[in-house]
Amino acid sequence: MPALTYKGIVLSKIKDPLALLKENRFVFINESFRRLFHLEDLPGKIEDLFEKPPQEFGLLETRARRPDGSSFEAEVVLLPFNGELRQLLVRDVSERRATEKMWLQAERLTAMGKLAGEIAHEINNPLGGILLYANLLKEDLPSGSPLLSHVDKIIKLATRCRIIAKALLNFGHPEDSLEEWVNINQVLQDMFSLIEDHRLFREVEIIWELEENLPFVQGNRSQLEQLVLNLIINAGEAMKGRGRLYLRTRLGHGEMVVLEIEDTGPGIPPEIQERIFDPFFTTKPGGKGTGLGLAICHGIVKRHQGTIEFESQPGKTLFRVKLPKIHLGNE
Ligand SMILES: Nc1ncnc2c1ncn2[C@@H]1O[C@H](COP(=O)(O)OP(=O)(O)O)[C@@H](O)[C@H]1O
Ligand SMILES: [Mg+2]
Repeated sequence: MPALTYKGIVLSKIKDPLALLKENRFVFINESFRRLFHLEDLPGKIEDLFEKPPQEFGLLETRARRPDGSSFEAEVVLLPFNGELRQLLVRDVSERRATEKMWLQAERLTAMGKLAGEIAHEINNPLGGILLYANLLKEDLPSGSPLLSHVDKIIKLATRCRIIAKALLNFGHPEDSLEEWVNINQVLQDMFSLIEDHRLFREVEIIWELEENLPFVQGNRSQLEQLVLNLIINAGEAMKGRGRLYLRTRLGHGEMVVLEIEDTGPGIPPEIQERIFDPFFTTKPGGKGTGLGLAICHGIVKRHQGTIEFESQPGKTLFRVKLPKIHLGNE
Protein backbone atom coordinates (compact mmCIF):
# COMPACT_ATOMS: atom_id res chain seq x y z
CA MET A 1 0.00 0.00 0.00
CA PRO A 2 1.48 3.38 -0.92
CA ALA A 3 2.18 5.72 1.99
CA LEU A 4 -0.93 7.63 2.86
CA THR A 5 -0.32 11.32 2.32
CA TYR A 6 -2.27 14.49 2.78
CA LYS A 7 -1.09 17.73 1.22
CA GLY A 8 2.37 16.20 0.96
CA ILE A 9 2.54 14.95 4.58
CA VAL A 10 3.08 11.26 5.11
CA LEU A 11 0.45 10.43 7.72
CA SER A 12 2.29 7.56 9.31
CA LYS A 13 5.05 10.03 10.22
CA ILE A 14 2.76 12.20 12.32
CA LYS A 15 3.74 11.82 15.95
CA ASP A 16 0.38 12.36 17.63
CA PRO A 17 -2.13 9.53 17.63
CA LEU A 18 -4.14 9.88 14.44
CA ALA A 19 -6.72 7.82 12.61
CA LEU A 20 -8.80 8.17 9.47
CA LEU A 21 -12.42 7.24 9.36
CA LYS A 22 -14.82 6.47 6.58
CA GLU A 23 -18.22 7.05 8.09
CA ASN A 24 -17.71 5.40 11.44
CA ARG A 25 -15.16 2.78 10.37
CA PHE A 26 -11.41 3.03 10.77
CA VAL A 27 -9.49 2.93 7.50
CA PHE A 28 -6.08 4.00 8.80
CA ILE A 29 -4.26 4.39 12.12
CA ASN A 30 -0.73 5.64 12.63
CA GLU A 31 1.87 4.08 14.88
CA SER A 32 1.20 6.17 17.95
CA PHE A 33 -2.56 5.58 17.71
CA ARG A 34 -1.80 1.87 17.58
CA ARG A 35 0.41 2.16 20.66
CA LEU A 36 -2.01 4.36 22.59
CA PHE A 37 -4.79 1.80 22.20
CA HIS A 38 -2.53 -1.29 22.41
CA LEU A 39 -3.85 -2.42 19.04
CA GLU A 40 -2.61 -5.21 16.82
CA ASP A 41 -4.85 -4.55 13.84
CA LEU A 42 -7.08 -1.86 12.54
CA PRO A 43 -9.98 -1.45 14.94
CA GLY A 44 -13.56 -1.75 13.68
CA LYS A 45 -15.90 1.07 14.45
CA ILE A 46 -15.37 4.29 16.33
CA GLU A 47 -18.01 3.19 18.87
CA ASP A 48 -15.69 0.38 19.93
CA LEU A 49 -13.07 2.79 21.25
CA PHE A 50 -14.99 5.60 22.92
CA GLU A 51 -17.69 5.84 25.53
CA LYS A 52 -19.13 8.92 23.79
CA PRO A 53 -17.93 8.62 20.21
CA PRO A 54 -17.64 12.02 18.51
CA GLN A 55 -20.46 12.61 16.04
CA GLU A 56 -19.68 16.08 14.77
CA PHE A 57 -16.53 17.94 13.92
CA GLY A 58 -14.89 19.51 16.92
CA LEU A 59 -13.31 18.77 20.27
CA LEU A 60 -14.70 16.41 22.85
CA GLU A 61 -13.65 14.80 26.11
CA THR A 62 -14.61 11.22 26.73
CA ARG A 63 -13.37 7.96 28.12
CA ALA A 64 -11.44 5.87 25.64
CA ARG A 65 -11.57 2.08 25.90
CA ARG A 66 -8.90 -0.25 24.73
CA PRO A 67 -9.74 -3.70 23.39
CA ASP A 68 -7.69 -5.16 26.27
CA GLY A 69 -10.22 -3.72 28.73
CA SER A 70 -8.19 -0.80 30.08
CA SER A 71 -9.34 2.76 29.56
CA PHE A 72 -8.20 6.37 29.84
CA GLU A 73 -9.52 9.94 29.78
CA ALA A 74 -9.17 11.23 26.25
CA GLU A 75 -9.34 14.51 24.40
CA VAL A 76 -10.64 13.78 20.93
CA VAL A 77 -10.68 16.03 17.87
CA LEU A 78 -12.66 15.11 14.80
CA LEU A 79 -11.91 17.07 11.63
CA PRO A 80 -12.64 16.78 7.92
CA PHE A 81 -9.86 15.16 5.90
CA ASN A 82 -10.66 14.92 2.25
CA GLY A 83 -13.47 13.44 0.25
CA GLU A 84 -15.48 11.23 2.51
CA LEU A 85 -12.67 10.68 5.02
CA ARG A 86 -12.57 12.24 8.46
CA GLN A 87 -9.53 12.46 10.71
CA LEU A 88 -9.48 11.72 14.38
CA LEU A 89 -6.81 12.94 16.79
CA VAL A 90 -6.66 11.51 20.29
CA ARG A 91 -4.73 12.53 23.38
CA ASP A 92 -4.50 10.74 26.73
CA VAL A 93 -5.25 13.34 29.41
CA SER A 94 -5.64 11.00 32.42
CA GLU A 95 -2.48 12.16 34.05
CA ARG A 96 -3.33 15.82 33.57
CA ARG A 97 -6.77 15.28 35.08
CA ALA A 98 -5.31 13.41 38.06
CA THR A 99 -2.78 16.18 38.71
CA GLU A 100 -5.47 18.83 38.46
CA LYS A 101 -7.59 16.95 40.95
CA MET A 102 -4.66 16.62 43.34
CA TRP A 103 -3.89 20.34 43.14
CA LEU A 104 -7.48 21.25 43.77
CA GLN A 105 -7.55 19.00 46.80
CA ALA A 106 -4.27 20.40 48.12
CA GLU A 107 -5.45 23.96 47.61
CA ARG A 108 -8.72 23.30 49.34
CA LEU A 109 -6.96 21.73 52.32
CA THR A 110 -4.51 24.62 52.58
CA ALA A 111 -7.29 27.17 52.51
CA MET A 112 -9.31 25.26 55.10
CA GLY A 113 -6.27 24.85 57.29
CA LYS A 114 -5.47 28.54 57.18
CA LEU A 115 -9.00 29.49 58.05
CA ALA A 116 -9.10 26.94 60.84
CA GLY A 117 -5.90 28.36 62.31
CA GLU A 118 -7.29 31.89 62.26
CA ILE A 119 -10.55 30.86 63.89
CA ALA A 120 -8.71 28.95 66.58
CA HIS A 121 -6.68 32.01 67.37
CA GLU A 122 -9.84 34.09 67.80
CA ILE A 123 -11.49 31.46 69.96
CA ASN A 124 -8.55 30.74 72.19
CA ASN A 125 -8.64 34.00 74.14
CA PRO A 126 -12.34 34.06 75.08
CA LEU A 127 -12.00 30.39 75.99
CA GLY A 128 -9.26 31.26 78.44
CA GLY A 129 -11.67 33.77 79.97
CA ILE A 130 -14.47 31.24 80.25
CA LEU A 131 -12.18 28.82 82.03
CA LEU A 132 -10.87 31.46 84.36
CA TYR A 133 -14.32 32.65 85.41
CA ALA A 134 -15.66 29.13 85.71
CA ASN A 135 -12.81 28.27 88.05
CA LEU A 136 -13.42 31.43 90.12
CA LEU A 137 -17.09 30.55 90.35
CA LYS A 138 -16.23 27.07 91.46
CA GLU A 139 -14.06 28.41 94.28
CA ASP A 140 -16.81 30.77 95.42
CA LEU A 141 -19.53 28.14 95.54
CA PRO A 142 -20.10 26.59 98.97
CA SER A 143 -19.02 22.96 99.04
CA GLY A 144 -22.01 20.76 98.51
CA SER A 145 -23.77 23.28 96.29
CA PRO A 146 -25.87 21.57 93.62
CA LEU A 147 -24.46 24.10 91.15
CA LEU A 148 -20.97 22.65 91.47
CA SER A 149 -21.66 19.89 89.00
CA HIS A 150 -22.83 22.45 86.43
CA VAL A 151 -19.68 24.45 86.83
CA ASP A 152 -17.62 21.28 86.49
CA LYS A 153 -19.38 20.59 83.21
CA ILE A 154 -18.58 24.06 81.95
CA ILE A 155 -14.94 23.54 82.83
CA LYS A 156 -14.84 20.13 81.21
CA LEU A 157 -16.46 21.26 77.98
CA ALA A 158 -14.43 24.44 77.75
CA THR A 159 -11.28 22.39 78.29
CA ARG A 160 -12.26 20.20 75.40
CA CYS A 161 -12.73 23.27 73.21
CA ARG A 162 -9.29 24.34 74.25
CA ILE A 163 -7.81 21.04 73.13
CA ILE A 164 -9.45 21.44 69.76
CA ALA A 165 -8.35 25.04 69.42
CA LYS A 166 -4.81 24.06 70.31
CA ALA A 167 -4.78 21.33 67.69
CA LEU A 168 -6.10 23.82 65.17
CA LEU A 169 -3.41 26.30 65.99
CA ASN A 170 -0.88 23.71 64.99
CA PHE A 171 -2.06 24.11 61.44
CA GLY A 172 -0.76 27.52 61.12
CA HIS A 173 2.93 27.42 61.82
CA PRO A 174 4.34 27.89 58.39
CA GLU A 175 6.79 30.29 59.97
CA ASP A 176 8.46 27.53 62.03
CA SER A 177 12.05 27.04 61.01
CA LEU A 178 12.69 24.13 58.66
CA GLU A 179 16.41 24.18 59.16
CA GLU A 180 16.99 21.21 61.44
CA TRP A 181 18.58 17.94 60.39
CA VAL A 182 16.14 15.28 61.42
CA ASN A 183 16.72 11.57 61.72
CA ILE A 184 13.37 9.96 60.99
CA ASN A 185 14.39 6.68 62.66
CA GLN A 186 15.03 8.61 65.84
CA VAL A 187 11.70 10.39 65.58
CA LEU A 188 9.92 7.05 65.21
CA GLN A 189 11.69 5.59 68.22
CA ASP A 190 11.09 8.65 70.38
CA MET A 191 7.42 8.91 69.52
CA PHE A 192 6.93 5.22 70.03
CA SER A 193 8.50 5.33 73.47
CA LEU A 194 5.99 8.05 74.36
CA ILE A 195 3.00 5.83 73.75
CA GLU A 196 4.23 2.26 74.19
CA ASP A 197 2.79 1.99 77.68
CA HIS A 198 -0.57 3.28 76.60
CA ARG A 199 -3.31 0.66 76.83
CA LEU A 200 -3.88 0.99 73.07
CA PHE A 201 -0.49 -0.53 72.38
CA ARG A 202 0.03 -2.98 75.21
CA GLU A 203 -1.10 -5.95 73.16
CA VAL A 204 0.06 -4.71 69.82
CA GLU A 205 3.04 -6.41 68.29
CA ILE A 206 5.50 -3.88 66.96
CA ILE A 207 7.54 -4.76 63.93
CA TRP A 208 10.47 -2.46 63.34
CA GLU A 209 11.90 -2.32 59.84
CA LEU A 210 14.22 0.63 59.93
CA GLU A 211 16.86 1.33 57.32
CA GLU A 212 20.11 1.62 59.16
CA ASN A 213 21.85 4.28 57.15
CA LEU A 214 18.87 6.46 56.55
CA PRO A 215 19.84 9.94 55.36
CA PHE A 216 18.62 12.92 57.36
CA VAL A 217 15.76 15.02 56.18
CA GLN A 218 15.73 18.76 56.58
CA GLY A 219 12.86 20.26 58.47
CA ASN A 220 11.25 20.97 61.76
CA ARG A 221 11.74 18.20 64.26
CA SER A 222 8.72 18.86 66.42
CA GLN A 223 6.42 19.04 63.42
CA LEU A 224 7.79 15.75 62.14
CA GLU A 225 7.29 14.25 65.59
CA GLN A 226 3.70 15.34 65.53
CA LEU A 227 3.24 13.80 62.09
CA VAL A 228 4.58 10.45 63.26
CA LEU A 229 2.63 10.55 66.50
CA ASN A 230 -0.67 11.27 64.72
CA LEU A 231 -0.15 8.34 62.35
CA ILE A 232 0.84 5.94 65.13
CA ILE A 233 -2.13 6.95 67.27
CA ASN A 234 -4.54 6.54 64.35
CA ALA A 235 -3.14 3.06 63.73
CA GLY A 236 -3.52 2.18 67.40
CA GLU A 237 -7.05 3.52 67.57
CA ALA A 238 -8.00 1.60 64.43
CA MET A 239 -6.72 -1.68 65.87
CA LYS A 240 -8.48 -1.12 69.19
CA GLY A 241 -5.56 -2.53 71.13
CA ARG A 242 -4.87 -5.71 69.21
CA GLY A 243 -2.85 -6.36 66.06
CA ARG A 244 0.48 -5.66 64.46
CA LEU A 245 2.04 -2.29 63.86
CA TYR A 246 4.80 -2.02 61.26
CA LEU A 247 7.15 0.92 61.51
CA ARG A 248 9.30 1.17 58.42
CA THR A 249 11.83 3.48 56.86
CA ARG A 250 13.95 3.29 53.74
CA LEU A 251 15.56 5.43 51.11
CA GLY A 252 13.23 5.43 48.12
CA HIS A 253 13.49 6.58 44.55
CA GLY A 254 14.32 10.15 43.73
CA GLU A 255 16.28 10.77 46.92
CA MET A 256 13.20 10.53 49.08
CA VAL A 257 13.21 9.21 52.62
CA VAL A 258 10.22 6.91 52.91
CA LEU A 259 8.38 6.35 56.16
CA GLU A 260 5.60 3.80 56.43
CA ILE A 261 3.19 3.11 59.23
CA GLU A 262 1.07 0.06 58.66
CA ASP A 263 -1.59 -1.50 60.85
CA THR A 264 -3.72 -4.61 60.74
CA GLY A 265 -6.91 -2.78 61.66
CA PRO A 266 -10.24 -2.83 59.86
CA GLY A 267 -9.18 -0.44 57.11
CA ILE A 268 -10.68 2.77 55.79
CA PRO A 269 -13.97 2.20 54.01
CA PRO A 270 -13.74 3.26 50.33
CA GLU A 271 -16.63 5.71 50.67
CA ILE A 272 -14.77 7.88 53.19
CA GLN A 273 -11.29 7.64 51.71
CA GLU A 274 -11.61 10.95 49.89
CA ARG A 275 -12.40 12.82 53.07
CA ILE A 276 -9.98 11.55 55.69
CA PHE A 277 -7.59 14.48 55.21
CA ASP A 278 -10.36 17.06 55.64
CA PRO A 279 -10.22 19.05 58.88
CA PHE A 280 -12.88 17.86 61.33
CA PHE A 281 -13.61 14.68 59.43
CA THR A 282 -13.73 11.90 61.99
CA THR A 283 -15.52 8.60 62.41
CA LYS A 284 -14.65 8.39 66.08
CA PRO A 285 -17.71 8.68 68.28
CA GLY A 286 -18.35 10.62 71.43
CA GLY A 287 -15.89 13.45 71.06
CA LYS A 288 -12.97 11.00 70.92
CA GLY A 289 -11.62 12.31 67.67
CA THR A 290 -11.07 15.87 66.54
CA GLY A 291 -10.73 14.98 62.88
CA LEU A 292 -7.66 17.16 62.78
CA GLY A 293 -4.87 14.59 62.93
CA LEU A 294 -4.55 13.82 59.25
CA ALA A 295 -5.30 17.37 58.18
CA ILE A 296 -2.34 18.47 60.30
CA CYS A 297 -0.18 15.66 58.91
CA HIS A 298 -1.04 16.81 55.42
CA GLY A 299 0.00 20.37 56.22
CA ILE A 300 3.28 19.27 57.79
CA VAL A 301 4.21 17.01 54.90
CA LYS A 302 3.42 19.72 52.40
CA ARG A 303 5.53 22.25 54.27
CA HIS A 304 8.41 19.76 54.05
CA GLN A 305 7.89 19.35 50.32
CA GLY A 306 6.95 15.75 50.75
CA THR A 307 3.96 13.60 49.92
CA ILE A 308 1.58 11.51 51.97
CA GLU A 309 -0.51 8.67 50.58
CA PHE A 310 -2.28 5.60 51.88
CA GLU A 311 -3.46 2.17 50.83
CA SER A 312 -6.19 0.53 52.79
CA GLN A 313 -8.21 -2.64 52.86
CA PRO A 314 -9.61 -4.67 55.74
CA GLY A 315 -6.66 -6.00 57.72
CA LYS A 316 -4.09 -3.65 56.20
CA THR A 317 -3.81 0.10 56.24
CA LEU A 318 -0.58 1.71 55.22
CA PHE A 319 0.28 5.39 55.40
CA ARG A 320 3.36 6.32 53.40
CA VAL A 321 5.18 9.61 53.80
CA LYS A 322 8.00 10.64 51.48
CA LEU A 323 10.31 13.47 52.46
CA PRO A 324 13.23 14.79 50.46
CA LYS A 325 16.55 13.67 51.90
CA ILE A 326 18.80 16.45 53.06
CA HIS A 327 20.79 18.11 50.36
CA LEU A 328 24.27 18.89 51.49
CA GLY A 329 26.06 21.81 49.91
CA ASN A 330 29.04 19.75 48.77
CA GLU A 331 27.04 17.04 47.01
N1 LIG B 1 -5.00 3.69 60.35
C1 LIG B 1 -6.30 3.94 60.12
N2 LIG B 1 -7.19 2.92 59.99
C2 LIG B 1 -8.49 3.16 59.76
N3 LIG B 1 -9.03 4.39 59.67
C3 LIG B 1 -8.22 5.45 59.78
C4 LIG B 1 -6.81 5.29 60.03
N4 LIG B 1 -6.27 6.52 60.11
C5 LIG B 1 -7.27 7.40 59.93
N5 LIG B 1 -8.46 6.78 59.75
C6 LIG B 1 -9.77 7.40 59.50
O1 LIG B 1 -9.57 8.77 59.20
C7 LIG B 1 -10.34 9.59 60.08
C8 LIG B 1 -9.63 10.91 60.30
O2 LIG B 1 -8.42 10.74 61.02
P1 LIG B 1 -7.81 11.95 61.81
O3 LIG B 1 -7.73 13.14 60.89
O4 LIG B 1 -6.55 11.53 62.48
O5 LIG B 1 -8.93 12.31 62.89
P2 LIG B 1 -9.37 11.50 64.19
O6 LIG B 1 -8.28 10.50 64.50
O7 LIG B 1 -9.48 12.56 65.24
O8 LIG B 1 -10.68 10.88 63.87
C9 LIG B 1 -10.51 8.74 61.33
O9 LIG B 1 -11.65 9.13 62.09
C10 LIG B 1 -10.67 7.35 60.73
O10 LIG B 1 -11.98 7.14 60.26
MG1 LIG C 1 -6.29 10.97 64.52
